[in-house]
Amino acid sequence: MKIVITKSYEEMSEEAFRLVKAVVKENPEAVLGLATGTTPLGLYARMAEDHRRGGTSYRGIRTVNLDEYVGLGPGSDQSYVYFMRKNLFSHLDILPENTHIANGLAPDLAEECARYNRLLETMQQDIQVLGIGSNGHIAFNEPGTPFGSETHVVALAESTIRDNARLFAREEDVPRKALTMGLKNIMHARRVLILANGAGKAKAVCGLVRGAVTEQLPASVLQLHPDCTLVVDEAAASLL
Ligand code: PGA
Repeated sequence: MKIVITKSYEEMSEEAFRLVKAVVKENPEAVLGLATGTTPLGLYARMAEDHRRGGTSYRGIRTVNLDEYVGLGPGSDQSYVYFMRKNLFSHLDILPENTHIANGLAPDLAEECARYNRLLETMQQDIQVLGIGSNGHIAFNEPGTPFGSETHVVALAESTIRDNARLFAREEDVPRKALTMGLKNIMHARRVLILANGAGKAKAVCGLVRGAVTEQLPASVLQLHPDCTLVVDEAAASLL
């Protein structure tokens, strides 16, 4: 694993942007695997700014997102489909039909997982952007998720519900279930870029880099990926 430690969140975002832009420039039809959460916001702001001022085009780019809450759709400002439109896609010239995210409103969730897996088989991520949960999850693959997992419905861990409650009016409003790419789908990416900032992530980052490869810390599977880059600020790197 390649590790880049930056002084600040801004520098972490800049470094992530440099890596993602290189993929887009090298292949204008690249598949970007994207993440939600607060961590990649600085990266997305830079992509938007670079498109606006620098003219980098996303017309041929395709995207797949990691996860979505069950029960939320484009009409909810807490859904991840809404988040992606608001924070990235509406600022780019990307075609909406080229952006993919599991449908949290699907009437048959098992069929939706199967559909998303079939789609991912045809869309290998040229780069997969990831954040990390304070419990070491990646996407919504909570501790204990098998490394061989594909897209599935997950019951969110109590710690994840607490972490995400800050984004909802009340903790009770945080959905208890989500659809998530599995660890196998993430490991299928040609390249992985995992970002972390802040002291709250230090323990998980330490486990990711130095810990045993164990399903108890899902991110540790990335130690087995042939092309994984971790970009962390000093606070998140403080236990390394
Ligand atoms: P965050 O979430 O970017 O909001 O910290 C990361 C995650 O839970 O994967």
